[in-house]
Amino acid sequence: MDIRDIEELTEQTLAELAGAADLGAVEALRVKTIGRNGRLPELMKGLKDVPAADKPAMGQALNSFKTAVTAAVNERKAALEAASKSAQADAFDLSLPGRWPRRGRLHPIQQLIDRTSGIFRRMGFTVADGPDVETEYYNFDALNTPADHVSRDLADTFYLPGGLLLRTQTSAVQARYMESHPPPVRIVCPGRCYRRDTTDATHSANFHQIEGLYVDEKVSLADLKGDIDHFARELMGPGVKSRFRTHFFPFTEPSVEVDFSCHMCAGQGCRVCKQSGWIEIMGAGMVDPHVFQMAGYDPEAVTGYAFGMGIERLAMILFGIDDIRRLYENDVRYLAQF
Ligand code: DAH
Repeated sequence: MDIRDIEELTEQTLAELAGAADLGAVEALRVKTIGRNGRLPELMKGLKDVPAADKPAMGQALNSFKTAVTAAVNERKAALEAASKSAQADAFDLSLPGRWPRRGRLHPIQQLIDRTSGIFRRMGFTVADGPDVETEYYNFDALNTPADHVSRDLADTFYLPGGLLLRTQTSAVQARYMESHPPPVRIVCPGRCYRRDTTDATHSANFHQIEGLYVDEKVSLADLKGDIDHFARELMGPGVKSRFRTHFFPFTEPSVEVDFSCHMCAGQGCRVCKQSGWIEIMGAGMVDPHVFQMAGYDPEAVTGYAFGMGIERLAMILFGIDDIRRLYENDVRYLAQF
């Protein structure tokens, strides 16, 4: 082995390293050449047989071999590692879950409008509509409401110039509809209402109601009870019942307030129903003959029932919303859960 052989060995090793395909191949070459039992220690051992004059040059050649191979090993390892890292970064990981576009949803108030009117539509009702800016006549007079009734108070109703007001109840649609449609009538009217209420956890100056009106020959209180019971089951669940408590409304006679048995505790008493087992849901009754008369219907020929309920209240009961203001703050993070 002379200096030329060592130079050749260096060149050959460097060429092989440059072509090494992976880290394992580089390591194998390192072990074979400069490793503890590799070619270099073997050649070092042979140094003692080299003539004294050639020893320094030979020693230097072996040192150069070691330095060159060590550098080439490190360089090749670094290059292979870098290449594998960038391959990983570019890789498309099929096991990752996809990214879905965020889906919007209907506001809880709209959901309840759709659900309640959907139930009545399936019972043969159609959806009717009236203006938010109403006349005093349709909002009060046509509903048999005396001129001195409390609900007409300036403190309760938003009056506008020219005998107009912001309707305080969807009941205002009743007379409008009857004036332009002969019986039979079967309508629900969802919509916005306005009252001069101070906003708190259960009151909002702007809220929604859904009104119902069914007029035909021989409509009875039993029809009202049966239809409301069906509605209660459809909306709240199969075990839910309704009960009537006598009440007074100017436009119905008799008038009732309707409670549903609590859907949370099945009437046992819980936080939602304030331990009573019942939840107040709506006002209802048999349409007063005088209301028919004013609308141009013959009270001897037809009878009918009417009802009205608050949409926000339904949403709060069904979704467990504790404060009506949450429905109007429009914080999407809050509303998205419903
Ligand atoms: N308009 C009533 C209110 O806002 C609710 C109501 C009660 C509507 C009885 C009706 C009814 O149609 O018959 O409190």
